Amino acid sequence: MDTKAPTHNVIHLNERKALKTEPIGANRGIVVDRFPKIISITSGKGGVGKTNIVANLGYTFRRFGKKVLIFDADLGLGNLDVLLGLTPRFNLSHVIRGEKQIADVVVDGPGGMKILPAASGIQDLTALTQQERYLVFSQLEAYIHDFDIMLIDTAAGISSNVLYFNINSDEILVVATPEPTSITDAYAMMKVLSVKYGTDHFKLVVNSAATPQEAEDVFRQLNLVTDRFLDISMEYYGYILLDENIKKGVRQQKAVTQMAPMAKASQNFGALARKITSSSVPARRNGMAGWRSSEMMD
Ligand SMILES: Nc1ncnc2c1ncn2[C@@H]1O[C@H](COP(=O)(O)OP(=O)(O)OP(=O)(O)O)[C@@H](O)[C@H]1O
Ligand SMILES: [Mg+2]
Repeated sequence: MDTKAPTHNVIHLNERKALKTEPIGANRGIVVDRFPKIISITSGKGGVGKTNIVANLGYTFRRFGKKVLIFDADLGLGNLDVLLGLTPRFNLSHVIRGEKQIADVVVDGPGGMKILPAASGIQDLTALTQQERYLVFSQLEAYIHDFDIMLIDTAAGISSNVLYFNINSDEILVVATPEPTSITDAYAMMKVLSVKYGTDHFKLVVNSAATPQEAEDVFRQLNLVTDRFLDISMEYYGYILLDENIKKGVRQQKAVTQMAPMAKASQNFGALARKITSSSVPARRNGMAGWRSSEMMD
């Protein structure tokens, strides 16, 4: 599968801006498929803060006026809803069983973000079949046109589901912490994606850093090895500092950006969201155009 294949019929976020400034009728006769910018958040190692980053970025993007869909793609052990104090009646397992449509399953989250919840405790979902992927993604494809951004919260590890969501996103945001095990796993994730699927561009976010310098050190360490051994570019997207308010938010089932907007972590999320919004259209454009055709590769 060529993950770098051009996506002719897809207009991405930055192009949408351009389109909006054109006079009405300029595109008359041209069928334009509009998709949100799709960003997957991934890490290899578990417990490094992916779900918190997704929830807080989602909340922050809403404050910026963006339409946000969050896809909890930790399919067997999803907990994004719990993190945000939500109790959805239905989840993706109902879609996969053909009992519900995605639109019936999506719930409203804080600040007006929309959330597609995952099931918890359903082992079958941890490795979707090709048909199940097709079902989910063809429905998503029809559903997401109205959104500006879709954030995908991936599971820990390098299962076929995780790899699949990553290779079919516009941007892969890799999360690492200063722990050596997390740095090794972030490297392993990029290595697998690069060697197996030719993914060549990653964004790095360092979470739970004691200081901005410590976060930059993590980036430098990783960059040293990726530069030497992998044919990829890794862009430093920034950091989220270690902040007790995040743990407090988890206990209160509230995103820290909602609970304590002035906390240092909340400000870090603001800076990260601004950076993401201002980033250029990725060189590697996949988006959903590849989702249907991705013959995966277990
Ligand atoms: N910047 C931070 N400062 C302090 N604590 C943090 C920070 N980020 C995450 N945590 C703590 O780490 C815990 C794990 O975070 P989270 O559930 O977001 O990780 P995850 O990567 O999604 O885990 P999993 O791989 O299991 O899905 C949180 O419950 C929170 O207590
Ligand atoms: Mg998680």
